Amino acid sequence: MSETAFTPRVFSGIQPSGNLHLGNYLGALKRFVDWQAKDMETIYCMVDLHAITVWQDPKDLQQSTRELCAGFIAAGLDPESSILINQSQVPEHAQLAWIFNCIARMGWMQRMTQWKDKAGKNQQNASLGLFAYPALMAADILVYHATHVPVGEDQKQHLELTRDIAIKFNHDYGVNFFPETEPVIEGAATRVMSLRDGSKKMSKSDASDASRINMTDDADAIAKKIRKAKTDPEGLPSEVKGLEERPEARNLINIYAALAEQSVDQVLADVGGKQFSEFKPMLAELAVEKLAPISTEMARLMNDQAEIDKILTRGAERARAITAPILRQTYEIVGMVQPVEL
Ligand code: TYM
Repeated sequence: MSETAFTPRVFSGIQPSGNLHLGNYLGALKRFVDWQAKDMETIYCMVDLHAITVWQDPKDLQQSTRELCAGFIAAGLDPESSILINQSQVPEHAQLAWIFNCIARMGWMQRMTQWKDKAGKNQQNASLGLFAYPALMAADILVYHATHVPVGEDQKQHLELTRDIAIKFNHDYGVNFFPETEPVIEGAATRVMSLRDGSKKMSKSDASDASRINMTDDADAIAKKIRKAKTDPEGLPSEVKGLEERPEARNLINIYAALAEQSVDQVLADVGGKQFSEFKPMLAELAVEKLAPISTEMARLMNDQAEIDKILTRGAERARAITAPILRQTYEIVGMVQPVEL
């Protein structure tokens, strides 16, 4: 079987651990919506099993999972066109992850920068789940034989590991069963940086709320955070090379380009020569125009949580029609005796 024998299929996921922010939206969610518009099967997941690799209060986890689902739909994902799932409702993810725990090597996991960052100096005290995190991520993707995975830049290493796991499995068992998945890291905002420090990624774990724009921020909060965003004293250049060594300026231009769906060159052709005092209000206005309708719709959807739960239940049912046969075939390849009809 050649690689092209795999039907094109898109999978991606986001952790329900706290607020969705602009980095998640531009680096991932907005791209999920773009992929939905193409003629491909698309599956998007709230990865609650990944979230609990670090402590989550059970009530908060429930709330964040439903809020994330509301965010997916408010941003433009249609539960009929795309399959929307909560990871723990599709048990084949965790089942395949166990097989992959036995394929992946300790050394591979130890090299993961996210593991090193999150476990910090206290690795002995980190959960075993945090260490095994990338094997579950590989299972998320490969249990669908997904071929395309849209993500932000920070997930690149995990996707390379996913390919390594697929290659080793295929090699060890002498099969061509799992595809070598393509990471899709594209657009102007694959790495949105903190508004307070252009050398740090925008992240939900940053202690400063001013460092990020949350999808639930209202228009005033968005405008205020952009007004206070760190910049340098120079004006804006009309060409990209004028942004070298200016990470904060580059970040704001990237955000503008991604929100406006323009290239960075196009944006600079328009705003080159302006001061930040003039550009920041333009950016704030654009951000509010694009984000406010999403947060309003999220709040509306959150008023009917029973409906969200139904959408996820239905999504899991559709997902399992894909994952159950793939898991069964995996078990057969590995040599596990499978139940027969009685
Ligand atoms: P998570 O929940 O940290 O982030 C979700 C998505 O948002 C992107 N992202 C960003 N993009 C641009 N700039 C930023 N500052 C920024 N911060 C986050 C991430 O790259 C990601 O695409 N391990 C994954 C979740 C996951 C997954 C999967 C993804 C689990 N299984 C299978 C794809 C396929 C994660 O923690 O993402």
